[in-house]
Amino acid sequence: MSNTLLKVDGLKKSFSIPDGMFGKKKMLKAVHDVSFHIPEGKTFSLVGESGCGKSTTGRLISRLLDPSEGEIWIDGEEISQRKEAQLKVMRKKVQMIFQDPYASLNPRMKVRDIIAEPLAIHTNLSRAERYQQVSEILEIVGLSEYHANRYAHEFSGGQRQRIGIARALILKPKLIIADEPVSALDVSIQAQILNLLKDLQSEFHLTYLFISHDLSVVEHISDHIGVMYLGTIVESGPKEVIFANPKHPYTKALLSSIPIPDPRLRRERIILQGDLPSPVNPPSGCRFHTRCPIAKDLCKTTEPAVHKDDGKGHMVACHFVEY
Ligand SMILES: Nc1ncnc2c1ncn2[C@@H]1O[C@H](COP(=O)(O)OP(=O)(O)OP(=O)(O)O)[C@@H](O)[C@H]1O
Ligand SMILES: [Mg+2]
Repeated sequence: MSNTLLKVDGLKKSFSIPDGMFGKKKMLKAVHDVSFHIPEGKTFSLVGESGCGKSTTGRLISRLLDPSEGEIWIDGEEISQRKEAQLKVMRKKVQMIFQDPYASLNPRMKVRDIIAEPLAIHTNLSRAERYQQVSEILEIVGLSEYHANRYAHEFSGGQRQRIGIARALILKPKLIIADEPVSALDVSIQAQILNLLKDLQSEFHLTYLFISHDLSVVEHISDHIGVMYLGTIVESGPKEVIFANPKHPYTKALLSSIPIPDPRLRRERIILQGDLPSPVNPPSGCRFHTRCPIAKDLCKTTEPAVHKDDGKGHMVACHFVEY
């Protein structure tokens, strides 16, 4: 049995936002109640439409944001309430990769210094030692020494993401949180970067939290998938189960929008009505009931319990689920 590298339990985050004029405030519940875990060396993907709280979840786990409630266990340590001074070890273990590598790479620094920066912050290595490590990591991510002396704007999108990955890897982290790492790239480049991430995972025994709005992107890289809707995980399970036997009407709708390459196969397209409701005033009962094709009166009043099929690790939060 492998160790659990990341465990999140009852995670919540509300933001205080302005409510009209006169300095009033209201609360936006970006993450309502999120729990999941990732075994060491595995990939868990969080999937859901824009605004459902995926990035907020990633930023809470990496403690770029302070949680309102809940526990975050990383490599056996609970870090949800730690102050900055006590987060140093954790900051080495957890690194992030972002959607827009250009925005996250300093335009005035040479690639060599961008990648070496975390070493300068977290280690006592000499400059020569740091640059030696940069050379090695450039090779590992499919770039070369020749690229080290250049600036980020001189690279293509795919190459920039390789630089972002090199920077994330240089401290030999255990957990990588990849927030839409391929969403800004062409489809052919997406596949290259996803393959690179998969190779790096087996080479360095990395654990991934992969965030995407697109289920088809996470299909090959994931071991486990959590489908998020308006701040909560409505269904989670092993990738094969989610793709072959989805139970939640929201997951079914997301899956139905993925084109199937074989024209002989047809999947009925489920089109959801309306937009994601506001996280300031989420619907009562089941948060999905306002857009759910099978909602009944019960769904308007009562939040569904999570049904677990423990044999397969499949969990569904719906009143009308049947295994
Ligand atoms: N710092 C903040 N202050 C106020 N509201 C915020 C803040 N960060 C996020 N939100 C709100 O929280 C909700 C969840 O946002 P989040 O960025 O986590 O969604 P997401 O699932 O990552 O969406 P996307 O797919 O568009 O990246 C949104 O309604 C967003 O407007
Ligand atoms: Mg996001």
